[in-house]
Amino acid sequence: MKLALRDLDVRGKRVLVRVDFNVPIEEHAGKIGITDDTRIRKSLPTINYLREHGAKTILMSHLGRPKGKRVEKYSLRPIGDHLHSLIHCPVIFSQDTIGTVPEKIIRHMQEGDVALLENVRFQPEEEANDPKFAEALAKLGDLYVNDAFGSAHRAHASTAGITRFVAQSAMGFLMEKELKYLHEELDKPAKPFVVIMGGAKVSDKIGVLKALMEKADTILIGGAMANTFFKAQGIPIGKSRVESDKLDLAHELVDLAKKRGVRFLLPVDVVEAEEICAGAAIRNTSRLAPNHGVSDGWQAVDIGTATIALYREEIAKAETILWNGPLGIFEIPDFAEGTIAIAEALAQSGAITIIGGGDSVTAVTQAGLADKMRFISTGGGAALELLEGKELPGVAALTEKE
Ligand code: 3PG
Repeated sequence: MKLALRDLDVRGKRVLVRVDFNVPIEEHAGKIGITDDTRIRKSLPTINYLREHGAKTILMSHLGRPKGKRVEKYSLRPIGDHLHSLIHCPVIFSQDTIGTVPEKIIRHMQEGDVALLENVRFQPEEEANDPKFAEALAKLGDLYVNDAFGSAHRAHASTAGITRFVAQSAMGFLMEKELKYLHEELDKPAKPFVVIMGGAKVSDKIGVLKALMEKADTILIGGAMANTFFKAQGIPIGKSRVESDKLDLAHELVDLAKKRGVRFLLPVDVVEAEEICAGAAIRNTSRLAPNHGVSDGWQAVDIGTATIALYREEIAKAETILWNGPLGIFEIPDFAEGTIAIAEALAQSGAITIIGGGDSVTAVTQAGLADKMRFISTGGGAALELLEGKELPGVAALTEKE
């Protein structure tokens, strides 16, 4: 059990908080806009708690992959301005991550103040987990809190190395909640436990599928990764996206499911399109079978109506549902029906619904159903690694609770 924020005595202390403000941004007329501020909002409970308890809060984050160089579009300054508008309190920005600039700013901070350091990834030492850099960061605070679940799978200076140089390191509220749902809740899930797995590549999900087969009762497959299973079973896939070098793996996963007694369901029909673009010709295939599948020159873009009905039935029976990855190319509205229908089925279900990061989160949000889910993870890679059963360096490095 790791130390949690509530275990720390933060009043009057300089508390370094690693957050994950790696949010999607877009540049417009030279200005940076945030297209989705969910990650920033989800870190507010930790930031507000620290303010209310008289801490001097020093936030650290990365944004993008600037590869150890100062890249203006990845500056955290606009993120600081946005945070200011959310917490209604000034966010003092330090244009340097370590050294005299942040040291001077922090010396003048009062209890309840909030500061934000420039992108830690502007320094090559961050991703190298350089001990000298970690120590220089640690010098800026008295205590360390990691609330950056989305980055907890990275062993970097600000997520892991730093803990060697501070007295106490604890989980923030977001980190705690993510671990509660993705780790504790899914360790002994209420049964039946249904996993919905979509996305483009089966190769990205091997580890997580194998690990979930230990616990799931039913696994529902969708997205382009289904094509690899179709091909392995001799179902024609037209010009659909496929990983032809992963057919053995597809067989292996189906066999493993059989061995474990897990029901492993593939789509029984799909929506096929002539082209991947809005307005392309589309139609629902009839029931898929060996030698009867996607038409030549067409490609699978969504699950079909019979599959939606079948998956709905499975969802209705579940007590716990984990969903990771969209079931079609939902960014194009004509191909989004299956993904949205599944999001709606989850919203209507009485089960514990957990959305495991990445594109499925975007899908649920776009469908306007985010507040109908029990828990939505802010982690992409981190969520997958945790579900695979891997230890996250950003969590492992925190102080053990006595
Ligand atoms: C994420 O968005 O998954 C995290 O912020 C980690 O970012 P990274 O993949 O660039 O390390």
